[in-house]
Amino acid sequence: RPPPSDVLFATLEKAAAFYRSELMNTARGKDYFKSRGLTGETAATFALGYAPDAWDSVLKLLGGSDAERSRLLQVGLIIERDNRSGHYDRFRDRVMFPIRDARGRTIGFGGRVLDKGEPKYMNSPETELFHKGRELYGLYEARQASRTLSRLLIVEGYMDVVRLHQAGITYAVATLGTATTPEHLARVFRICNEVTFCFDGDRAGRAAAWKALENSLSQVREGRQIRFLFLPEGHDPDTLVGEEGREAFEARIKQAMPLSEYFINHLSAQVDTHSIDGRARLGEMARPLLERIPAGIFRELLAEEVAKTVGLKRDRLTSMLGEGAEKAA
Ligand code: UTP
Ligand code: MN
Ligand code: MN
Ligand code: MN
Ligand code: MN
Repeated sequence: RPPPSDVLFATLEKAAAFYRSELMNTARGKDYFKSRGLTGETAATFALGYAPDAWDSVLKLLGGSDAERSRLLQVGLIIERDNRSGHYDRFRDRVMFPIRDARGRTIGFGGRVLDKGEPKYMNSPETELFHKGRELYGLYEARQASRTLSRLLIVEGYMDVVRLHQAGITYAVATLGTATTPEHLARVFRICNEVTFCFDGDRAGRAAAWKALENSLSQVREGRQIRFLFLPEGHDPDTLVGEEGREAFEARIKQAMPLSEYFINHLSAQVDTHSIDGRARLGEMARPLLERIPAGIFRELLAEEVAKTVGLKRDRLTSMLGEGAEKAA
């Protein structure tokens, strides 16, 4: 008997193949992706699919026995009915994005409604094989496009990754309906030293960017580059690269804002830097954040910049930092 996870991977692979063939053989899913500007080649690269509008298509195809149904349950493809009188397919009438691990094995799915409907995206639940706070959508495909990934662009959505890849920007990855976690970031920096965050040009996207900054501070190292690309209001990478193309989008990536600049700008924007109270608050907000940065030249320079902005002598602020760091140690 193979180890249980092999059987589960096989189940997910069969489901992905089924969704894929449904996409090829029915107009509904294909027309949807066409309307989003995707080519057949892109759909093949990401193994995109379509889950038919039925309660039991995966259940019938892959759930013939108790053992098989139990596997479908374990990987989140079917759901048990409330009264336990049976099961039904989780994904129905949705276009499907298989989520693969670094080795290319399908570990879960994201499914999008074609029309209006809630939720817009439905994802596989946390399972033995699928951990949302760890996985990055598109990482496998990015590696396939370039073995030596020297940089990554972190975006919000499936469509952003896919559309950017089609435009030739093959180094985009997305978190899966969660904020960027410290685990994601540790993973990202094990892969490369150049990371640009590019979230949607809306309030949620800007909040996600600041959260990403907070979680990046402990990852600051000499030789690493962490930057933030802010998009025009109402755009996301998908719409923007569709509108202006690869070169213009890559020019934006090149000009993205360094972490240090975003740090100062964001904090300064929250207070009135002309008042003592405002500057004091800025200093208070900055200090615990500065303490997350490993001691070194970058932290010294950023602390100096904060000190300048709040009008404190630098050695006052850095000595406060020193005390904090010693306490933490
Ligand atoms: P967005 O709403 O920005 O999605 O959510 P999008 O990718 O731009 O969607 P399109 O362009 O309308 O297709 C960003 C990401 O957040 C997660 C998904 O991973 C999505 O790609 N999300 C969003 C969910 O998990 N559930 C939702 O209901 C919505
Ligand atoms: Mn596990
Ligand atoms: Mn959004
Ligand atoms: Mn979006
Ligand atoms: Mn979008």
